[in-house]
Amino acid sequence: MTDTPPKPQTSRRTFIKLTAVTGAAVALGHRAGAQTASSPARSGDLLMYQEGPKKGQPVKAADLKEGVAVWAMAVDPATKKPRDAMKSGVVVVRLKPSEIKDSSKKNASGGVVAYSSVCTHQGCPVKEIGSLGQGKGNIICTCHGSIFDPRDNATVLGGPAPRRLAALPLKAGAGGDLMAAAEFTGKIGPK
Ligand code: FES
Repeated sequence: MTDTPPKPQTSRRTFIKLTAVTGAAVALGHRAGAQTASSPARSGDLLMYQEGPKKGQPVKAADLKEGVAVWAMAVDPATKKPRDAMKSGVVVVRLKPSEIKDSSKKNASGGVVAYSSVCTHQGCPVKEIGSLGQGKGNIICTCHGSIFDPRDNATVLGGPAPRRLAALPLKAGAGGDLMAAAEFTGKIGPK
């Protein structure tokens, strides 16, 4: 009499584990794909002035004055065009080195930080650095008065904005041109 070979079995626990791992991998894949496909800024993108006499020129850390903001677009270096007409916009600020909090240091280059210029409340473009009161030295959205601290990773100091502005990590490229060192650290604009 011959022995019948045992049938391979998948226990319920193994099945659940496999399903969970596969599901997580698929979710990660989808998320990574979505970020890559729709990212308004990627590592290596150049920051170019959005307005003023230097419009279209690269922003250099050495040209910026402490506490003064400039508005720029993160631009695909191959096409010299922003990846998104609105969501690639950034406010760029040079800070006093002694004032930069740890939360901002990791994303700064040469004392310069950059944040999405799309307000997280209702999507207005943030357009000012304040000069008075609570707004002094901070990024202000004049639509409804939200205030963001550029020294502390654009945390919300006041107004209706539900969350900070997304940071764009920076690095210096050839000739001191500021470039994105990674994608934005969070979602752009309102939910
Ligand atoms: S859209 Fe910026 S405060 Fe409302």
